[in-house]
Amino acid sequence: MKDIFDECNFKDLKLKSRIIRTGAWQRETEDGGYLTPVIYDRYEKMAKSGVGLILSEMFALDYKDRFFEYSANMNYKGFVKDYKELTDICHNYDVPVLGQLAFFYYDDGDNQKAEPNDLTIEGIRKLQAEVIMAAKKFSFAGFDGIQINMGNNFYLSKFTNPYFNQREDDYGGNTLNRIRIVLEIIKLIKKTIGFHVSCRINIEDVRKGGLTQEESLKMAKLLAENGADSIQITGRTISMKYDAKEKHIFLDYANKLAQEVDIPVILAGNLRDMEKMNEILNTSNVEFMSLSKPFVAQADFLADWKANGKGSSRCKGCNNCYSKKESRCFQYTD
Ligand SMILES: Cc1cc2nc3c(=O)[nH]c(=O)nc-3n(C[C@H](O)[C@H](O)[C@H](O)COP(=O)(O)O)c2cc1C
Ligand code: SF4
Repeated sequence: MKDIFDECNFKDLKLKSRIIRTGAWQRETEDGGYLTPVIYDRYEKMAKSGVGLILSEMFALDYKDRFFEYSANMNYKGFVKDYKELTDICHNYDVPVLGQLAFFYYDDGDNQKAEPNDLTIEGIRKLQAEVIMAAKKFSFAGFDGIQINMGNNFYLSKFTNPYFNQREDDYGGNTLNRIRIVLEIIKLIKKTIGFHVSCRINIEDVRKGGLTQEESLKMAKLLAENGADSIQITGRTISMKYDAKEKHIFLDYANKLAQEVDIPVILAGNLRDMEKMNEILNTSNVEFMSLSKPFVAQADFLADWKANGKGSSRCKGCNNCYSKKESRCFQYTD
């Protein structure tokens, strides 16, 4: 029987459980990015309580990016020192941490919002170099890898989506061409830095002419065959299609993908109850699950679940943390 608290391998990483804390911005920074005790404390609580892996809050490439105000910053003077301290805290509890890179716009030097169709080959090279440089900075700060957010509505989800990409060169047209921009990034990160590369992808686009589930599966397989170390599944907007339906909306996709690739696949979104999560683990190919709001509601809830052998998140799903772009819970203050 599989259990959420099983110790397991996550490609090159060793995890203390199958539970992954997934990105949630940390708003309590100061003076352009400096981390504060609230953030260190939150990370320590999560790491101590039994989480297997932490995916960081998103880091943007550019200060003009749409979400920069809520994103973490890797371009302030104290970045390496602060985040080394943060990753050391997690490592003290044997919890690896991946830095998440997510950008909504791409500034190619001529246009701050360069569309996928307009990006020149030089623009593509600039983008790739910036992502690789971000990975390098993460490695200096002690992160165990990078997560490239190419899901939700972020730039790389658009670049790889036939709804937005009608390029006629090697970076447009068929599936391999549209994902080539990411495959080349992965290859270089693996070669030059060598640490874990995770990709966060959408299962589909929903818009007519957009990415279908069939093509998304094909892309995920290409990522796996070309060096990606893990894949997290998400949807175009985080609230899309999540509801109280009995079956998890991404489960069929995750099940299929986990069967077809030999890298970890992370099921994400609306997972709240230990019993239900163990049921999914034992009735599907899914081996890893990520949660976000439950950690906002209570950073160390996993300690209670582990001690009691059961538990449900106290998150009420009001969505205030997300819609008000805060990292604190609006229902509980402890
Ligand atoms: C407060 C908050 C901040 C978030 N910040 C990020 C982020 O930085 N990067 C990201 O990819 N997703 C972010 N998300 C989305 C979550 O990672 C997750 O996909 C979503 O909340 C669904 O998972 P859940 O039902 O377990 O909360 C955030 C969500 C919340 C509630
Ligand atoms: S603010 Fe609402 S959605 Fe966010 S963690 Fe608290 S209860 Fe859950």
